[in-house]
Amino acid sequence: MKVLVVGGGGREHAVCKKLKESRLVTELLCAPGNAGIAQAARCVPGVKATDVEAIVKLAKDEKVDFVCVTPDDPLALGCVDELEKEGIAAFGPSAYAAQMESSKIFSKNLMKKYGIPTAESETFDDMDAALAYLDTKSAPIVIKADGLALGKGVIVAQTMDEAKEAVIDMMQGGRFGKSGARVLIEECMFGREVTVLCFCDGKTIVPMRASQDHKRVFDHDQGPNTGGMGAFAPSPLYTPEIAERTMNEILVPTLNAMHAEGFIFKGVLYVGLMLTEKGPKVVEYNARFGDPETQAVLPLLDSDLMEIMVAVRNQTLGDLSIRWKDASAACIVLASGGYPGKYEGGKAITGVDEAEKAGATVYHAGTKIADDQLVTAGGRVLGVTALGETLRAAVDSAYAAARKIHFDGVHMRSDIGSKDC
Ligand code: AMP
Ligand code: GLY
Repeated sequence: MKVLVVGGGGREHAVCKKLKESRLVTELLCAPGNAGIAQAARCVPGVKATDVEAIVKLAKDEKVDFVCVTPDDPLALGCVDELEKEGIAAFGPSAYAAQMESSKIFSKNLMKKYGIPTAESETFDDMDAALAYLDTKSAPIVIKADGLALGKGVIVAQTMDEAKEAVIDMMQGGRFGKSGARVLIEECMFGREVTVLCFCDGKTIVPMRASQDHKRVFDHDQGPNTGGMGAFAPSPLYTPEIAERTMNEILVPTLNAMHAEGFIFKGVLYVGLMLTEKGPKVVEYNARFGDPETQAVLPLLDSDLMEIMVAVRNQTLGDLSIRWKDASAACIVLASGGYPGKYEGGKAITGVDEAEKAGATVYHAGTKIADDQLVTAGGRVLGVTALGETLRAAVDSAYAAARKIHFDGVHMRSDIGSKDC
């Protein structure tokens, strides 16, 4: 099969690497791709992931057999719908089903209606009503913009002043544009967080190895939120007992709820869980693979990813038995100094080959080639993943490899996985 992957980050690099191993894939393209992906796929840098028309045209011109749409924006923009309309098979949810991620109010309403455990919340499209509601509540409290906001639309307010400021900022300040026109005000939950990525074909839901992300930029979960500074899998917090509860109380009820609402979700359903005193509760759904969770989870997959994607698209996932390596994986993100705030690009990167020789896989997130030199071209630059028999072994070898890589201002957390080793 000739396959096109849409996107150009570390997650897409992990997907491309896995697809490259597939016995079904004969040719692999990636739009736009990046300098690392170019080693696994033919990249088409001129086609942006968000340009649905250009993606469909590329798929037609290149006569690809299958398209994997990985990032949130093209999914929300209906990329899969448009491809399928043209008779091109695609992996990922329709724009309607992608509302599980693109509208926090859509997914919250679904959870409320079908009794899926999550934080109590109220929805507001009027700022004065939201502020009046806040007067009846106490901190900490969570304010969420309804729409996609690059992972920045959630404020866990520690004081009521902060909560009010967030509401005003989103609803009046237009900080997130249309995404913030409606907000959710939500009870603050307490507990450890686990990510459960699930293959879902609308009939069957199959969780992958559970993982843990590290969202804050500095050690010990300090500093601002980022897209994710590192991840590992499997999560030791996701015990067989928690896994069973999650399956019975969250995953199957979510599948049934989507079915009852009359839509089919095909793709990866990302279930972000908080393990609270009262059991697992949903923090959020995403309609795609997580980043950087995928860079820790997919290396553990022993089955053919392309076979799974085809089965998801054809709704035959129930016929497959998906195998996983009996190992742990850890991914350390190397970021540009200053990220998630302002940072400079164009810094020369050295040591990638040495890191790979040390046994790690280096996923490129924000890199490019300039004058024959690999340089930084994003906030998150690389993800260094290593496998080990134990989480400790995986973390140690990921760090040993990551420390071989250098660029001006490089920043990584030094405590990925340390709480759970
Ligand atoms: P989200 O974009 O929905 O994943 O939210 C980003 C982060 O905000 C999550 O990973 C949590 O750490 C935190 N968060 C979101 N909702 C809640 C909540 N109701 N209670 C506590 N923390 C939350
Ligand atoms: N790692 C968080 C996300 O992919 O949304």
